[in-house]
Amino acid sequence: MGVAGARGPEAAAPAVDAVICRCEAVALGALVAARNAWAIDDLRQLKLLTRAGMGMCQGRVCQPLLESLARSWGWDPSGALAARPPTRPWAMGQVLPESSEPEHG
Ligand code: FES
Repeated sequence: MGVAGARGPEAAAPAVDAVICRCEAVALGALVAARNAWAIDDLRQLKLLTRAGMGMCQGRVCQPLLESLARSWGWDPSGALAARPPTRPWAMGQVLPESSEPEHG
């Protein structure tokens, strides 16, 4: 746990109440507790159980922190936090009826 105003090794460790994912308000302590309680051993499971990385920004803000945390626990974070936007692009022909094409002439 970090100590305010400390120098040396104490200053390097983040506090358990440090917010890692702002969108879902997930603190470091919650991530550690989830890992220990459910014997989680990969970042995807941690994400699904805590919702870290599943907020409005889809992990754009917290992904580097979550990946760094995963690496510090010896996990491979690659691909675990792939953003899944709620929408996907559609071609106009899929959403417009054929009769809606503009008339020429
Ligand atoms: S900060 Fe984690 S999803 Fe936005």
